[in-house]
Amino acid sequence: MILQDSVLKLKNMISESRNIVFFGGAGVSTESGIKDFRSADGIYMMDYKFPPESVLSHTFFKKHTEEFFDFYRKYLCFPDAKPNMAHIKLAELENQGKLKAVITQNVDGLHQLAGSNTVYELHGSALRNYCTKCGKFYDFDFVYKSNGVPKCECGGIVKPDVVLYEEGLDNDTVENAVNAIANADMLIVAGTSLTVYPAAGFIRYFSGDKLVLINKDSTAMDEKFGLVIHGKIGEVLKETV
Ligand code: APR
Repeated sequence: MILQDSVLKLKNMISESRNIVFFGGAGVSTESGIKDFRSADGIYMMDYKFPPESVLSHTFFKKHTEEFFDFYRKYLCFPDAKPNMAHIKLAELENQGKLKAVITQNVDGLHQLAGSNTVYELHGSALRNYCTKCGKFYDFDFVYKSNGVPKCECGGIVKPDVVLYEEGLDNDTVENAVNAIANADMLIVAGTSLTVYPAAGFIRYFSGDKLVLINKDSTAMDEKFGLVIHGKIGEVLKETV
């Protein structure tokens, strides 16, 4: 099926649906200038003094805290990033009452910045930071503008509210995301390689008949989708919403 036919099919599916859920990953933010992880130019593909994927783990955070924050500020903080067409169109779809929830693996807060209200952040958010000792909240700038290891006034280390490898996802967020998917009549999955669990396993809770994947590269789960569009999510949603 050529791209135009697929895009037209997607447009029709969206117009027929009243309970759409969107499940996205790092590919949704690349058009905002934020690198993803596993594309050829992704964060995990770059030469770095440590294997990049290992840096984003709880063990690394505990053992090499200063190195963690150097990497985190450099590669996971984007103070000037703006919502792109994908974020904007999804907020529009929610505004039309057709999209009920955005479920994202991203921590950049761009869906909310674009106007989406119901956003489940499976991997947390860089906009929230908490003291590991007293729990005090600190904003994005506090960590981004700090040098070395950011410290609370109580002396505790301030940690981003981002789910690292070896850490669990927030139970309420998981429950809300699974319920949204289970109740949806259409699930649009986009900008994710579907390689990280438990997030990648959530699509199994979908029981509707309109299951769509929009992704630049093919994934190991392509054949599970009724419609697969290998294209840029911002461009595709611009044509269909
Ligand atoms: N439009 C559509 N797809 C895109 C675009 C785009 N503009 N840009 C990139 N992609 C696709 C890539 O082809 C890739 O398959 O998005 C996918 C991004 O995959 P990953 O980089 O693996 O990102 P993601 O799936 O979100 O990773 C999941 O891994 O390390 C963890 O916590 C991290 O949340 C992250 C998780």
